Amino acid sequence: MIAERFVLAALLAELRVTLMPDAIFAEPKLAEIYDLFDRPNRPDLAPYLAIADEFKAHAVIDLGCGTGTLACSFAALGKEVVGIDPAAASLDVAQRKAYADRVRWVTGTAAQLEGLHADLITMTGNVAQVFMTDQEWVATLRACRRALRPNGRLVFEVRDPAREAWKGWNREQTYQTIEAPVIGMVETWVELVRVQLPLVSFRHIFVFQKDGRVMMSDSTLRFRSRSEIAETLSHARLPVESVRDAPDRPGLEFVFIARHEQ
Ligand SMILES: C[S@@+](CC[C@H](N)C(=O)[O-])C[C@H]1O[C@@H](n2cnc3c(N)ncnc32)[C@H](O)[C@@H]1O
Repeated sequence: MIAERFVLAALLAELRVTLMPDAIFAEPKLAEIYDLFDRPNRPDLAPYLAIADEFKAHAVIDLGCGTGTLACSFAALGKEVVGIDPAAASLDVAQRKAYADRVRWVTGTAAQLEGLHADLITMTGNVAQVFMTDQEWVATLRACRRALRPNGRLVFEVRDPAREAWKGWNREQTYQTIEAPVIGMVETWVELVRVQLPLVSFRHIFVFQKDGRVMMSDSTLRFRSRSEIAETLSHARLPVESVRDAPDRPGLEFVFIARHEQ
């Protein structure tokens, strides 16, 4: 156990953990094409819109909003929306979307929740896995609790570590090409760099056909088990109300709904 903790601490030090978002979100040229590589119409986001209805949430904060698709969808439904993300380049893309003018965009992290009040806070696209240390993760959960109104909900998804998603993170299974306006054809794929559980490191590679430029983005995600997540939520005084499946990725994800009890 002590040896495992030592290895984890050494890995985190080696990764020089900072709050700097990965290049795929923070480099303007990569943020610009991010949505084109994602699934069209984002079927993963519809359940979050339904959850907002289910809990009659009006004021919503999307933490780690990225290029803002969900925040703009909430705004289109007439909700009061704040979108927060540390990657300014992703927020630049978000601000050009329909209904973006009805969203308050904030560059930052959970630290920027101070003084905000919401009925619902969402973290989609496995944002919850970017927090590598328990200290950073629990501080984020506590900041969410402070921003939630009584009976407000925090809703987020994480991959089930038992499903070992990283086994599919290789060139053969991830290779795709897209045609981006002005930028032209781009090839991309993912390569697994290291699995040292609970941390998994991988690299996105992008080849821009027009000028031959190659760009890379390195990421590390932390895989926490269902019980570890429940325990950290309880430390943050946001007990789990339910854990659901992600309808578009059955059996692969845990969607946690945590409630701010008075
Ligand atoms: C996979 S993207 C998901 C974006 C968006 N939620 C979606 O579903 O499209 C992960 C996002 O987490 C953001 N992020 C990274 N570190 C963060 C932090 N400490 N706090 C909040 N968001 C963070 C990244 O900048 C990136 O936009």
